[in-house]
Amino acid sequence: MKNKYLYIQTFGCQMNVHDSEQMAALLADCGYKTTNNLKLADLILLNTCSIREKAAQKVYSELGRIGLLKEQNPELIIGVGGCLAQHLGNKFHKRVRHLDFVFGTHNIHRLPEIVAAVRKKREKITQIDFHKVANSIGIYAPPVNGALSAFVTIMQGCNNFCAYCVVPYLRGPEMSRPPGEIIEEIKKLADQGIKEVTLLGQNVNSYGKNLGKSSNFTALIKKIGKVSGIERIRFTTSHPRDLSEELINCFNEEEKLCKHIHLPVQSGSNRLLALMNRGYSIENYLTKVDRLRTVCPQISITSDIIVGFPGETGNDYQETIDMMEKIRFDSTFSFKYSERKGTAAEKLEGKIQECEKQRRLKFLQDQQDKHTLQKNMELEGSRQELLIEGKSKNSENDLMGRTSSWKIVNFKGERELIGKLMDVIITKSYLHSLRGKLIEEAGNAN
Ligand code: SAH
Ligand code: SF4
Ligand code: F3S
Repeated sequence: MKNKYLYIQTFGCQMNVHDSEQMAALLADCGYKTTNNLKLADLILLNTCSIREKAAQKVYSELGRIGLLKEQNPELIIGVGGCLAQHLGNKFHKRVRHLDFVFGTHNIHRLPEIVAAVRKKREKITQIDFHKVANSIGIYAPPVNGALSAFVTIMQGCNNFCAYCVVPYLRGPEMSRPPGEIIEEIKKLADQGIKEVTLLGQNVNSYGKNLGKSSNFTALIKKIGKVSGIERIRFTTSHPRDLSEELINCFNEEEKLCKHIHLPVQSGSNRLLALMNRGYSIENYLTKVDRLRTVCPQISITSDIIVGFPGETGNDYQETIDMMEKIRFDSTFSFKYSERKGTAAEKLEGKIQECEKQRRLKFLQDQQDKHTLQKNMELEGSRQELLIEGKSKNSENDLMGRTSSWKIVNFKGERELIGKLMDVIITKSYLHSLRGKLIEEAGNAN
């Protein structure tokens, strides 16, 4: 039988990246091999994002390009999944004529049956129902050969309804996965050579709320810490309101928990934080940052910030800049506010003009670059443990690894070291990476 090829393109967050891995795993069981060559594909899947208008536009332009392929090959099947698919549902077919199927965020498990139906009947399908049980999050995606890191979904959905955000509407209510299932999956991954797991959820700090008293996030991390073969544990994303003292202490107590937290602050203005429905004040946030740095002085703290939220005054913006100056994040992702249909912020007055948003974003990013470089320079001369991921992008002779704090380090080393945990001394710092030198001593390998 002729091979069938799947080309899958992912937009959006790490959760979507992992969902795509699950989609590829399900379709591999139906005989589809994944290819990076678009022209070879019998089935093209776009796993879409709708977080900001720009993310949606990217999907449309990619679909335009792919439509041309269908003109040359009418047998080609094209499907869209993920958040924009969930958002548009049937309307996606009207907007993009050459689509064969649209499936939502709760329907990944139905992909094999949807593809089979399209192949058989050639009719257009839309499947965007929400389900009360989490059917899709437990799909096992075997790691690709040689992979050291894997994502593990521990919960789906979000109940927070931040005023600007579409995610709760597109991913449904929060639902945690039982700890036993998570541990089983991680053991399986460890047996296949995975050393680092990143636990995924929109708000991992509220993990376990629907599972009863015995499950919480810190307990889960400690259980994962006992899985042999797993050397590093990461998680994303934390909501500052739900970051507990117990979890903060875990950075000191659980050796395998990496010394990095992504803690989206969004704004430095209490007025805007309230309008955004974030549920904390900037004083609460600063207290948590202080506690994190007291418990774990080496921790790196990264964040997300939105500029130009409706009604953001010069003063509100200045409070964000001042907060950044006080905290000095290791890095931030910053965004211009993008209006999303159906969210609470859509109805707010005081929309900010695009050019003003751009100006605010640019200044903020320049400030952040200064802080990032300064934070990186503070590491010069320090000893850092790296998980060596592979060859460096910069030079054939160099390897690349990541520190526990999520920073990239390039250094000279032999290829046999890939996959090992080794210590380096940081010799030079740049904005986006560090340079290191392997410490040559007995015991620097495991
Ligand atoms: N659940 C995560 C992240 C969700 S989306 C969390 O709460 O941290 C990632 C980031 O996109 C958010 O932190 C926010 O900074 C940004 N974002 C979400 N909706 C946005 C919008 N409408 N406009 C601009 N940025 C947005
Ligand atoms: Fe969106 Fe807020 Fe939920 Fe994050 S916590 S996904 S920003 S609603
Ligand atoms: Fe985008 Fe959905 Fe993730 S909107 S950011 S893909 S949860």
